[in-house]
Amino acid sequence: MIYLDNAATSWPKPPEVPKAMTDALERAGGNPGRSGHRLSIAAARVIYDTREEIARFFGISNPLRVIFTGNATHAINLALKGILKPGDHVVTSSIEHNAVMRPLRSLEKQGVRLSIVPCAPDGSLDPGDFAKAVNPGTRLVVMTHVSNVVGTLLPITEVASIVHQAGALLLVDAAQTAGVIPIDMPATGIDLLAFNGHKELQGPPGIGGLVIADNVDASQIDPLIRGGTGSRSESEEQPDDLPDKFESGTANLAGIAGLGAGLKWITDRGIDEIGEHMKKLSQVLIEGLSALPEVKLYGTLDPERSVAIVSFTVIGKQVSEIGLRLDEEYGVLSRVGLHCAPAAHKTIGSFPEGTVRLAPGVFTTMDDIQEAIQAISRVVRS
Ligand SMILES: Cc1ncc(COP(=O)(O)O)c(C=O)c1O
Repeated sequence: MIYLDNAATSWPKPPEVPKAMTDALERAGGNPGRSGHRLSIAAARVIYDTREEIARFFGISNPLRVIFTGNATHAINLALKGILKPGDHVVTSSIEHNAVMRPLRSLEKQGVRLSIVPCAPDGSLDPGDFAKAVNPGTRLVVMTHVSNVVGTLLPITEVASIVHQAGALLLVDAAQTAGVIPIDMPATGIDLLAFNGHKELQGPPGIGGLVIADNVDASQIDPLIRGGTGSRSESEEQPDDLPDKFESGTANLAGIAGLGAGLKWITDRGIDEIGEHMKKLSQVLIEGLSALPEVKLYGTLDPERSVAIVSFTVIGKQVSEIGLRLDEEYGVLSRVGLHCAPAAHKTIGSFPEGTVRLAPGVFTTMDDIQEAIQAISRVVRS
């Protein structure tokens, strides 16, 4: 089997990840922050250690500003619904995932003013076009770091400087980049960063987070849910302390332990080395598919301007047929269709059918890529 669906979720996981999850449940299985006994304290330690790892990973100094959520969607909803009020202006791009688009469309119905800046058909965004959409009334800009359909990188550093000149905040959806591209929030100018653990951070499903930069006033963000935090139990009001303000309910201990192990694995291996490996795979995949005249490729086709996500269609064939045949006849696992990003497919010109998406991961080898190209060439020709 050749797993090329790492943009949906990474597989396999480093063995350290399930081990850390089992260890946490077996040795630190109390409810963190609730009781004062040793198992509760051990659980709190596992969680705090991971918080520290994440803060370091994204370049912020206060680990209490790492808010654990169930996934990236939850983190994005927390930021958007916590900040935007009727009348506020928010700007986004035309290649966003529905994790961004759906909450924005819902907020729009409640009176939030939404501007969508068009990207080029290769997924790239011109900072000049973006600047025209931002004005002194803009409260927030939300943008994906790369397209989850074609992998194209968005110019986040340039966007951040435009956003800050207008006095607004920048929320970046790093679901597809955390773990493959180094992200230094202060250096890049990211105010809020949403991530999930289950893609290239090598963690399990069901864990993600929102990282709030050290200089962002967290009092301007309302919690998405309220409830028990284990702290200030005498009060029936939600506490203002971080991270408790945003983390009601029992934490996903096993998920957080697994995420911590994933982060450690990436750090030990080196994120630059991982990035280089992915770039080489992407380059060979693009070259191999470009040689097939029946195949239409989307995106920049430049591994320096994108992450390893390759989308294609085949003249005269349905994407669903290609995905099924690759799986059943050759054991090549891809993802076909709209990838939860209809706006992105409209932008690149593949709506409504979508594309076949191939996403190598850290464990993908060059042989896997060569075999996948062979399989695709057979499928497109028969
Ligand atoms: C760009 C982007 N944003 C958000 C998400 C949502 O991630 P999750 O399913 O972990 O909430 C995804 C997942 O595919 C994604 O690719």
